[in-house]
Amino acid sequence: MDFYDVIGTRRSIRSYKSDPIPLPVLERILEATRRSPSASNKQPWRLVVVTDQKIREQIATSGVYGKFILQSPVIIVGVGDPVVAPDRYIIDTSIALEHIVLAATAEGLGSCWVCSFDENVVKELLGIPESMKAIAIIALGYSQKTISIVGILAKIVRPSKKMEELVSYQRFTSDWDGKEYNQ
Ligand SMILES: Cc1cc2nc3c(=O)[nH]c(=O)nc-3n(C[C@H](O)[C@H](O)[C@H](O)COP(=O)(O)O)c2cc1C
Repeated sequence: MDFYDVIGTRRSIRSYKSDPIPLPVLERILEATRRSPSASNKQPWRLVVVTDQKIREQIATSGVYGKFILQSPVIIVGVGDPVVAPDRYIIDTSIALEHIVLAATAEGLGSCWVCSFDENVVKELLGIPESMKAIAIIALGYSQKTISIVGILAKIVRPSKKMEELVSYQRFTSDWDGKEYNQ
């Protein structure tokens, strides 16, 4: 899939088929993630891939807005290491997790970020060392609905902000008065 098709197709998916994700697909996604950038190339993150139904259930019920991870056949927990990169571990882990999301989209998978969980529960269940942080979870699986229909609906109910609300040129302004892009 073309990169801009990946960007245009991606939506947060919260309803999954029970079909497993084939290992070669998962491995391609993880390889795309391994190559993500990090400050000073410290790579201060680890991923824990969880398929175990009972563990997913306990993680799902530890939060409010991530119940659908019960349904997704795979979840990937992003773990950051503040010892290795005290100022950048959250950014670096987040970049890695977004690589998962984009690679998963290219593979025809649905995904969703989840931050609604009890970190202590997740750390305990997965044996994450005390010094490390569970930053976020990515739910992965084949979408119940076709992504294009979900995409059309999502565009209606969840529009992105307008470009002029997000971007200004040369300096920070909230009063968009056109582009001033000089090369
Ligand atoms: C850091 C982060 C945390 C999120 N946490 C949750 C969550 O706990 N539960 C959930 O259903 N969606 C969560 N989302 C998904 C957002 O709600 C979603 O990305 C946003 O509404 C835009 O929709 P889209 O992803 O379909 O473009 C999270 C997204 C991000 C980036």
